[in-house]
Amino acid sequence: MSDGAFDLVVIGSGPGGYVAAIRAAQLGLRTACVEQYPRLGGTCLNVGCIPSKALLDSSEHFEHASRGLAVHGVRVSEVALDLPAMHARKDQVVHELTRGVEGLFRKHKIERVQGRGRLVSASAVEVTGEGPPRKLATRRILIATGSKAAVLPGIPFDGRRIVHSTDALTLPAVPGRLIVVGAGAIGLELGSVWRRLGSNVTVLEYLDRIVSGADIGTAKLLQRSLEHQGMKFRFGVSARSARVTGETVQVQVGPAAGGDSETLVADVLLVAVGRRAFTDGLGARELGVAFDERGRIVVDAQFRTGVDGVYAIGDVIAGPMLAHKAEEEGVACVERMAGVAGHVNYHCIPNVVYTWPELASVGLTEEQASEAGRAVHVGTFPFLANGRAKAMGERDGQVKLVVDAATDRVLGAHVVGPRASDLIAELVVAMELGASAEDLARTVHAHPTLPEAVKEAALAASGRAIHI
Ligand code: FAD
Ligand code: NAI
Repeated sequence: MSDGAFDLVVIGSGPGGYVAAIRAAQLGLRTACVEQYPRLGGTCLNVGCIPSKALLDSSEHFEHASRGLAVHGVRVSEVALDLPAMHARKDQVVHELTRGVEGLFRKHKIERVQGRGRLVSASAVEVTGEGPPRKLATRRILIATGSKAAVLPGIPFDGRRIVHSTDALTLPAVPGRLIVVGAGAIGLELGSVWRRLGSNVTVLEYLDRIVSGADIGTAKLLQRSLEHQGMKFRFGVSARSARVTGETVQVQVGPAAGGDSETLVADVLLVAVGRRAFTDGLGARELGVAFDERGRIVVDAQFRTGVDGVYAIGDVIAGPMLAHKAEEEGVACVERMAGVAGHVNYHCIPNVVYTWPELASVGLTEEQASEAGRAVHVGTFPFLANGRAKAMGERDGQVKLVVDAATDRVLGAHVVGPRASDLIAELVVAMELGASAEDLARTVHAHPTLPEAVKEAALAASGRAIHI
């Protein structure tokens, strides 16, 4: 059966796809969104950002109740973990948010089509699911099919002992020993969740550092805090193979540079070594859409593939695999379709790792600035000297600003500390508006607050911090 023509068919309902569909409907485009799963929201809402943050928040409460309250003069006894209740709360959070997207679709009269979408031409999408196949005729197609966990050769997932992030969000019991492969955002966040709940966590990392790409000094501070909390790291090693034997996993680990392997034993092995663009069965390649060497769809600055009328955004194209990046691209892409001047400022995309302390950054690192031959001033301020952080009992971390030496313009900001995810917003706005360190330094910040550390770091960039 062939359906009446749409102005736009979006394939995928993650933060890229569903936000693009809503914006397109706002702009008057007759829009359909095809999603293979019964729930809208994609990776982020169902098995990514949201459930991981729900568990991070719950496990943080557990850790505070278990170990963090005595210092505040609050005595508690018999703190116990109710893991099924913790999972149920997480599921409820996900349920409410995905239902929210359904409501937004109804409000904007977006046609939701459940099933697997495949491009049969540049103006038709075939959807196969439980019912009879449908063919959606459309003027434009937006591919927002996201990504899937990367698999390591020799380490096949079994969903129980050797798992990816989705399974690690639903473990039915706290593993005694958890080995995590990969010290990126997923490894550190989910490693933190299970460590707080009682696992002995060891993180294996190929490189010599955590969170590759982040400012190195800032990442080092986070590593130290995580080690202090009991997370163990082994750097310069690679997980070569793994085998489930009874109730344990035997992991073969060797130096990244080559050499003999040793066997490590865990109850659960979490493989978090990145994600790959997902385009299986999409029919895009057959239609002539170009892919890069990492399997990502190639687009131009307006998110157009080489095939007229076919666009792509989010995790399936190049760039950081982040929900807010996908959203911004979705909005800019459909605004361009509608003749509105949408754009994404790739210099100002914040990146957050939601451990405790959190790591949040935007813009250039000190190393990137120096590689680019830019003379910079650096201003740092530790939370140890911030009144509010002290009152909270938070001593770890700092704010670091990278500032152009000639113009004083803020080029990058790197925060490790309490609520860094919230603190970075001020710095993103500052960079978006082209602010100088002097602008930040002269802005009145309420006292006592964590953002005062931002002001002090801005003052420090010209050697005049007050409280250090
Ligand atoms: P997705 O969210 O992957 O959505 C793609 C959708 O397309 C899926 O629902 C899929 O089922 C559907 N689909 C695919 N092919 C088809 C087809 N042929 N037909 C129909 N439907 C199809 N990012 C952050 O910014 N902050 C975080 O805190 C964060 N935490 C994360 C935690 C975890 C554990 C993980 C795994 C990821 C996290 N991310 C986070 C990354 C974030 O989830 C992704 O960057 C984001 O979801 C990408 O959005 P997207 O719309 O491009 O794709
Ligand atoms: P990642 O790419 O961030 O980190 C993977 C790490 O694994 C790298 O440090 C890499 O060197 C290491 N590695 C690769 N192969 C290895 C091997 N054989 N042995 C040991 N180490 C190895 O990937 P991750 O953490 O899986 O996250 C995937 C994506 O999801 C990221 O792009 C991230 O942006 C996104 N995400 C974002 C979050 C956030 O914004 N808070 C949270 C979770 C995920």
